[in-house]
Amino acid sequence: MVKPLSYVAGISPYVPGKPLKELERELGISGSIKLASNENPLGPSPKAMAALKEFMTNTGEIGRYPDASGYYLKNAISAKLNAKGMAGSAELTPDNLILGNGSNELLTIAVRTFMTQKDEAVMGTPSFVVYSIAVNSVGGTAVQVPLVEYRHDLGKMADAVNENTKIVFIASPNNPTGASNSRKELEAFLKNTPDHILVVMDEAYYEYATDPEYPQVLRDYWGKKEFLLLRTFSKAYGLAGLRIGYGIASNKVIAEMNKIREPFNTNSLAQHAALHALDDDAHLENSIRVNIEGRDYLYKEFDAAGVKYVPTQANFIYMPLDADSKKVYDALLRKGVIVRPVGPKEIRVTIGLPDENKRFIDSFKEVMKQI
Ligand SMILES: Cc1ncc(COP(=O)(O)O)c(C=O)c1O
Repeated sequence: MVKPLSYVAGISPYVPGKPLKELERELGISGSIKLASNENPLGPSPKAMAALKEFMTNTGEIGRYPDASGYYLKNAISAKLNAKGMAGSAELTPDNLILGNGSNELLTIAVRTFMTQKDEAVMGTPSFVVYSIAVNSVGGTAVQVPLVEYRHDLGKMADAVNENTKIVFIASPNNPTGASNSRKELEAFLKNTPDHILVVMDEAYYEYATDPEYPQVLRDYWGKKEFLLLRTFSKAYGLAGLRIGYGIASNKVIAEMNKIREPFNTNSLAQHAALHALDDDAHLENSIRVNIEGRDYLYKEFDAAGVKYVPTQANFIYMPLDADSKKVYDALLRKGVIVRPVGPKEIRVTIGLPDENKRFIDSFKEVMKQI
């Protein structure tokens, strides 16, 4: 075999949550629930689904390449953000946007645009593992700064920046912990970041955040600070299977990233569904409400049972256990409840529908009695 690059050979691959059907086949069970990949339990917007069906049957678009510029979707995103005053005082235009095959792809495009071997990227640990995979894939160094109280230690991350640093990744809120840095912490960090770095603010779970101290990066820093802000249609918009997300940055940053973006990286179904999902405020509000109610139910049950958890700004909850997480994960699996082990003694559970949350709680309590 041709020899892989040494830095590629050294990468530990991302382990995705297994599809439900595959797990059920393996375990010989049925009727299981997946609370492992932070998807929207309500699924996509019905409006988006109706538009998608119409698109597939009536227009014959499938035989043609998608719109490489994502014209309609980028226009709709910028119009929505401007209307909500989310871009602060300065308007943003479609030239400030880039679409990706999930925000995941935009992370890798950012790394490939700005980093090479010998360059460094600073990130928290544990955080979204794709950051380090992307950095290692170009031979760069992932400088991992341990979290403090489950959120990014922005002071230590600032200290880790040097002349070789190109990117700092901040997951806001963080995955897998669900915690977010406060407005004040972020302000102190951004005040001192040098101009030669790009701050990548990963807001995959932005829509779910409820803490008044959660930083509103776009509103407060647009036009004032260089950053790349990433959002996605995979989570609150329920379109994870279609793969579509977007990045917001100065038109200079976007223009450089566009040079290496595959021209047809987002497919026409994804663009079309996202366009209509964006228009369905009722579904988004419902998704957020279901998440808040599910979160509060789980908190109440955890509190009553004395179970430790980290308060979340996202659609999942991080649980530090007094037990081996793999054992707990396996035992839950056998009861048809799929969660995610995210550390030796930590699991992460996605907030589901009311009956799913109850089933998780009941199963978790039984499992913890046995372990
Ligand atoms: C923090 C974070 N960023 C980015 C992503 C990527 O999401 P997607 O590629 O589906 O937009 C995820 C997905 O789980 C995530 O948790």
